[in-house]
Amino acid sequence: MKPVNAIAYANIALVKYWGKACVNKNIPQTGSLSLTLNAFYTKTTITLSSKDRFVLNGIEQYSDRLNKVISFLSLVRPKGLFCEVVSENFVPTESGLASSASGFAALACAVDKFFKLKLSRQSLSKLACFGSGSASRSIFPGLVLMNSDGYSRKIINTLDLSVVVVECGIGKKVINSRSAMSITSLTSPYHNAWISNHFIDLKSAKQAIVTNDFDKLGKITERSALRMHANLMAADPGLWYFKPLSLKIMSHARKLRNEGLVGYFTLDAGPHVKVICESKNSNIWKVELEKIPDIIQITVSKLGPGAYCEYGN
Ligand code: PMV
Repeated sequence: MKPVNAIAYANIALVKYWGKACVNKNIPQTGSLSLTLNAFYTKTTITLSSKDRFVLNGIEQYSDRLNKVISFLSLVRPKGLFCEVVSENFVPTESGLASSASGFAALACAVDKFFKLKLSRQSLSKLACFGSGSASRSIFPGLVLMNSDGYSRKIINTLDLSVVVVECGIGKKVINSRSAMSITSLTSPYHNAWISNHFIDLKSAKQAIVTNDFDKLGKITERSALRMHANLMAADPGLWYFKPLSLKIMSHARKLRNEGLVGYFTLDAGPHVKVICESKNSNIWKVELEKIPDIIQITVSKLGPGAYCEYGN
């Protein structure tokens, strides 16, 4: 079997999911809507080996990270075969910039070709979901809808969108999203309200896309992020991912919007703030946000392609 190499791009949810309907099968409690980004991605190569190995960014991985890859491989490979998986993240790892989405989407794409599974794109998205819920969406390009069954599909969209990603810290997130979701759904008195409002947000966001209404989509995006974080804060113990710098950027983004620069922020399981805007405004956003001290890096991302194999069998 020849090595297979796959690439998948990270995605940022406009309408987030937060909570699992089935922890064992990693099924999300709700659907979600996202943008696949061209600036952040993972490259993964899979080859046969005498034992299972996972190398990430040149470093051999053990325990949790290796076990996740082994569980994923076990879903699809014939018994008795072992694999070496070598990945390179062109996105900060486990920091709230969707490296697990690009990582598991790339792995799903690679195993599909390596083991000649010939899965449809939709089945590939379902497979990716076993690794990470958000990975399901990274199988597809641009604007993507994931259903609560873990299957995703591309949504036709004529808005020309960009995402200005403002990195507000370095290192791993304070708590992984799977554990944080479990604590939130078990202990937050806001969780049921989050779930019921989520359905309304997702429906309204789909309408906004059909009518090309960027303002409406942006308002829902901001609301979805803030409600998700409010739900986390109401958990026991209360959890939060943002830093003082994240709050500063969110406030500044609102101020700029009030002054006429249209864009809406979101943030995920990490301190980084992402401003969704129309592409014509993305460089102005970058220039304006760069004026805030202590930012690690600002990247303007256009919409990215779906996962694909570069070479292989
Ligand atoms: O599926 P995970 O473990 O990558 O969690 C995704 C969590 C959020 O990014 C906060 C929300 C989302 O829909 O992407």
